[in-house]
Amino acid sequence: MATVDEIRQAQRVGSTATVLAMGTANPSNCVYLSTYPDVFFHLTNSEHKTKLKEKFQRICEKTKIKKRYMHLTGDILKKNPKFCEFRTPTLDAKLDILIVEIPKLGKEAATKAIKEWGQPKSKITYLIFCTSAGVDMPAGAMRLCLAKELAENNKDSRVLLVCAEMRILAFSGPSETHIDGLVGQALFGDGAAAVIIGSDPLPKVENPLFELVWIAQTILPDSGRYIKGDIREVGMILYLNQDLPNLVSKHIEKALVNAFQPLNISDYNSIFWISHPGGRAILDKIEAKFDLKPEKLQASRHVLSEYGNMTGETVLLVMDEMRRRSKDEGHGITGEGLEWGVLLGLGPGITLDTILLRSVAI
Ligand SMILES: CC(C)(COP(=O)(O)OP(=O)(O)OC[C@H]1O[C@@H](n2cnc3c(N)ncnc32)[C@H](O)[C@@H]1OP(=O)(O)O)[C@@H](O)C(=O)NCCC(=O)NCCS
Repeated sequence: MATVDEIRQAQRVGSTATVLAMGTANPSNCVYLSTYPDVFFHLTNSEHKTKLKEKFQRICEKTKIKKRYMHLTGDILKKNPKFCEFRTPTLDAKLDILIVEIPKLGKEAATKAIKEWGQPKSKITYLIFCTSAGVDMPAGAMRLCLAKELAENNKDSRVLLVCAEMRILAFSGPSETHIDGLVGQALFGDGAAAVIIGSDPLPKVENPLFELVWIAQTILPDSGRYIKGDIREVGMILYLNQDLPNLVSKHIEKALVNAFQPLNISDYNSIFWISHPGGRAILDKIEAKFDLKPEKLQASRHVLSEYGNMTGETVLLVMDEMRRRSKDEGHGITGEGLEWGVLLGLGPGITLDTILLRSVAI
């Protein structure tokens, strides 16, 4: 009879969990932030709120988001006029849409990841599905931690991680009494990302992208009120504290020291960065804090500009962008030619997730 220790050892794998394939998806409805204030105030019958619209225009400009995608179209809003009012009970109608659309968007991203992976679906041993559309908002990159643990502790496992988000619950007409809600209307986009994670990649069959070497989570002190998404009959009431960029800047160094001290790395220009683009001001603060060269956060800024902040999965799009530009620019490895890198997730809590990444040969 096998001992518990023998059963446990038989599950162990030989190598670090690795990202093996990726796929992403967005709704087809694309909105440009240069024209979105006109569209949003028209659709929500708020054109008379001229001062508020001017403020929204300023916010949209400052996000540095060029475009983003959203499931809600003018037609859908015409069929659901209450969505356009401020704080009107709409939870059921919003959930009715999400229950149908979120799995579709997630499936599209997952199908692309499986296609890139090139293996039969039946070889997926675990499925992790994440969405904040309907429950409390989950934190940034911790879902990757769960996938890593499954992959490293269950021999021959392949984990399909699917994240899909649509900001339908938080959609509402604008109000002078809730400006951070207005910031959310500018900032957040809809999208999905899927990754396949496993250890001991099969040579010549699977093509690893990044090794997930080490993961930690820090809860920033006294930060409980900084990001909040309360589910109520009106949908989700979103709170974003204006001082969030400063809070992140104040605490981020410790998280990086914990990750990179064992490697004797203290020059953060010598690593590649896959940072959640929570907002332009957060990226600016991180750049200033570590005196980073402008190109270091370029992948994050590009994803922010092209897709907006899609919450937790945005960082996976940055990872996708990083491996794509590494290939296009002729680097031999996935992290823009650098061996070590960091993936930074940021979410309610405030939680700061730090993942030490290692590049893989392209
Ligand atoms: C929103 C953002 C792009 C605005 O850029 P900025 O350089 O800070 O620009 P400003 O300070 O001029 O802000 C523009 C306006 O929005 C208001 N504003 C900005 N952030 C706000 C917030 N969180 N709550 C309420 N109002 C806010 C400002 O008061 C200002 O109003 P005004 O033009 O009437 O003076 C920037 O603050 C940002 O990226 N913030 C982080 C967003 C965030 O919380 N992301 C979630 C992380 S997961």
